[in-house]
Amino acid sequence: GKITLTMIKPDAVKNGHIGNILADITTAGFGIKALKLTQLSRRDAELFYSVHKERPFFGELVDFMISGPIVAAILEKNNAIEEFRNLIGATNPQEAAEGTIRQKYAESIAANAIHGSDSDENAIIEANFHFSGREVY
Ligand code: GTP
Ligand code: MG
Repeated sequence: GKITLTMIKPDAVKNGHIGNILADITTAGFGIKALKLTQLSRRDAELFYSVHKERPFFGELVDFMISGPIVAAILEKNNAIEEFRNLIGATNPQEAAEGTIRQKYAESIAANAIHGSDSDENAIIEANFHFSGREVY
């Protein structure tokens, strides 16, 4: 597929990394189809991460994702899902490869700087979750 949905998470926004992360994303050849600074409500975060609702860290994940503003974006590139997950690195920043966004900017497995969709199907669901038609170029 050609699109993925990303969120620059509250830790990376607070730590001043929006500009550097967007620069890494565009340098890696992704186009930006939609972009905004926003804040999730508890209900939003619970819905977005509902696939993880049985996991032991679900409460922590939701609390973290509503702890401050995020940047949501729809990104475009051939093979977007896999290419973007390679760019951001492993979920746990201690396991993330050198030069990846999580290795450079994440603090911990919970505060891991950035989200990337895990399938073409979820990319579309997540893009529609964050953006209305008029917000997408
Ligand atoms: P996303 O791109 O954010 O979906 O990350 P991922 O696909 O690499 O990981 P996954 O979908 O398995 O988990 C979703 C998010 O839950 C992760 O990005 C972490 O922020 C959080 N998470 C995963 N494992 C843990 C954990 O053990 N503890 C806590 N507190 N959070 C976790
Ligand atoms: Mg995931």
